[in-house]
Amino acid sequence: MRMVDLIEKKRDGKELTTEEINFIIEGYTKGEIPDYQVSAFAMAVFFRDMTERERADLTMAMVNSGDTIDLSGIEGVKVDKHSTGGVGDTTTLVLAPLVAALDIPVAKMSGRGLGHTGGTIDKLEAIAGFHVEISKEQFVDLVNRHKIAVIGQSGNLTPADKKLYALRDVTATVNSIPLIASSIMSKKIAAGSDAIVLDVKTGAGAFMKTAEDAKELAEAMVRIGNNVGRKTMAVISDMSQPLGYAIGNALEVKEAIDTLKGNGPKDLEELCFALGRQMVFLANKAASLEEAEDMLKEVIRNGKALEKFKEFIASQGGDPSVVDHPEKLPQAAYQIEVPAKADGVVAEIVADEIGTAAMWLGAGRATKESDIDLAVGLMLNKKIGDPVKVGESLVTIHANRENVEDVMAKIYDGIRIADHAEAPVLVHNIV
Ligand code: URA
Ligand code: CA
Repeated sequence: MRMVDLIEKKRDGKELTTEEINFIIEGYTKGEIPDYQVSAFAMAVFFRDMTERERADLTMAMVNSGDTIDLSGIEGVKVDKHSTGGVGDTTTLVLAPLVAALDIPVAKMSGRGLGHTGGTIDKLEAIAGFHVEISKEQFVDLVNRHKIAVIGQSGNLTPADKKLYALRDVTATVNSIPLIASSIMSKKIAAGSDAIVLDVKTGAGAFMKTAEDAKELAEAMVRIGNNVGRKTMAVISDMSQPLGYAIGNALEVKEAIDTLKGNGPKDLEELCFALGRQMVFLANKAASLEEAEDMLKEVIRNGKALEKFKEFIASQGGDPSVVDHPEKLPQAAYQIEVPAKADGVVAEIVADEIGTAAMWLGAGRATKESDIDLAVGLMLNKKIGDPVKVGESLVTIHANRENVEDVMAKIYDGIRIADHAEAPVLVHNIV
């Protein structure tokens, strides 16, 4: 087989066989096929697309390019949740203990954040002592004992995707549905869960700017998952504004605790129920999504979800007393208000602008090597659709530096006040 013939075949809009796709991915992973040929191939896929079968084959070829996690030592249906990336997205911190409180095993492999989106591991490390550097054996044992554990991403998971994603980034081929869908699904499948719930974000802060594109991506991923034997469902949710009020690591832990107590922001709560009920349903613990949602509400009401969060923190070396005493979380030295410059209604809180402002404070990483400050971040005091009076605080900046003029200017860039505006629909679609 020659790579040039396969590029030509895809360029001409023909369907590649399983063997041909394996040849490309294996050869690329081993370094036998050069970047320039794979660039041309990615561009051909960008214009010619892939059939459902090709997408599943590409996904599995990338899964098989590296290590896969074997979760067969964990009893029960393991359900994973994945978000395509948002600002102030605190859902995993809430969902993991919430679902585990219903005896559904949550075996979570997670990464650190890059850019303006935060990683779940960074957030959890805001809890003193909490660590994710555990062996695979410990991980399986913790899930069997507590129904919940989080481990850092293994180094050699889907190396083909790592290489291809970096190449796509510099060849204008990121934004292709078959390539995004296979990239995301390969990582989820390699991580070993039986079922997968996807949160596909749409809006300014997301990859997919429109709900239609997001739906197409969601459908592509759900089909790949189901075609390779993992039960998969998706929710399409709004990321035109940040989720909840808190953006920043310790601030989001506090927000998760509030939500597990039943006092969380309404949008965060709604999304947690929308995703959580799919997780419970796919785990075969409920006969319908409605029943699943009732079960989730009950473990918040009776305190079991909060207890599970404490148990989880303690089991990975963290101090569980932060749940009752969130003031023990890292605190920033300065709290600075951002006053509204006009009367009206908040019409826009552009998620990626606000995320960037939080990153400048040190809440996120500008490069992979940057250190982050767990205490800093932003608390929104208003959301889209809220009325506001001049001088009222739009946002509270939690900073460890006194001069935050740059951050304040960025926040003003991201927030628009108008005469009328309505809160956006949070959950667009269920796939
Ligand atoms: N996230 C991924 O992991 N892969 C893509 O291709 C796009 C977003
Ligand atoms: Ca949040």
